Amino acid sequence: MIRRAIISGIGHYVPPQVVTNFDLEKIMNTSDEWIQQRSGIQTRRYAENGIGSSDLAYEAALKAIENAGLDKSEIDFIIAATISPDHYFPGIGVMIQARLGLPGIGALDVRNQCSGFIYALSVADQYIRTGTYKKILLCAAEVQSHSMDYSDEGRDLAVLFGDGGAAVILEPHADDDGRGILSTHLFADGRFVKDLWMENPSSKKKPTFTAQMFAEGTFFPRMDGKNVFKNASERMPEAVELALRHNGLTIHDVSLLIPHQANDRISQMVARKLQIPIEKVARNIDRFGNTTAASIPIALDEAVKNGRVKIGDIIVLTAFGSGYTWASAVIRW
Ligand code: UT7
Repeated sequence: MIRRAIISGIGHYVPPQVVTNFDLEKIMNTSDEWIQQRSGIQTRRYAENGIGSSDLAYEAALKAIENAGLDKSEIDFIIAATISPDHYFPGIGVMIQARLGLPGIGALDVRNQCSGFIYALSVADQYIRTGTYKKILLCAAEVQSHSMDYSDEGRDLAVLFGDGGAAVILEPHADDDGRGILSTHLFADGRFVKDLWMENPSSKKKPTFTAQMFAEGTFFPRMDGKNVFKNASERMPEAVELALRHNGLTIHDVSLLIPHQANDRISQMVARKLQIPIEKVARNIDRFGNTTAASIPIALDEAVKNGRVKIGDIIVLTAFGSGYTWASAVIRW
């Protein structure tokens, strides 16, 4: 019998402050019409000053632990995915561990941007399959709003991003009923690092952060939006097709496709290319914006809680983002 990993608990947490496109119009040179037409986003959540990604991850973790019916002391490993850690180092895995009061257990940080959740899921899946760990807490959380450039130079990115966190519990599945994570496929192409990156602070520079970097705004994320858009629309369908072939499935077997949501136009193109009805694609970017590593598990949690996912359903996840990195995963729920 194959020992598969199963998601036994899930939860998400977004900060309470809702920021509309009209709110953004007041602080930057943009419009509700532009944002909705180009991205489908209407609102996003912003964390208040003093709240970091570890705080959102912690709140989501509590919900996932409760949803799994676990006592937190049963967790034997933590994986955290974020590109917006509270501090340059250490990562947020140890901060989540400390707040949960679980000293001693390992805490691993994954930095794979928008693909971070699937990369982290892949790592957790291997640990469960090999029997290394039995109850893994996987958190994905981002506070992006604190690092955006709200000037004309950064407005393409600033309007897209939102803050949020989600968490899942992974355990070995005891029954031989075909449920669990069937596969994960990970990809990267580092030739495109500069298409979406935050150049500074940088360990290449001495000192790593200077007044000049601050003055020139090179500590803000920058993106070649058109190239990222084009590659996202092509790589995600490819990754899904490969994953389905690998499992002997077709797109008709898929109950729910959860793409990383960077832009609703990308999700629509992915659906068109895969010829999957748009009703089978998870879409909540209108309310949350692009929450980077957290977008897939937030959408998954909403789908589960809304009854959109039933036992035995085939769910396919796919992501694309900075690096470039991209990925897919197939789960029989
Ligand atoms: O999560 C990681 C992966 N990220 C993504 O996948 C994002 C991929 N890229 C995109 O979603 C799109 O490229 C954007 C939504 C970022 C931009 O859409 P676009 O259709 O590619 O617009 P553009 O960059 O070609 O900009 C068109 C115009 C420009 O003005 P000019 O040069 O035509 O006068 C921009 O300066 O829109 C302007 N613009 C804005 N206007 C109002 C750019 N950002 C804004 C803004 N508000 N926020």
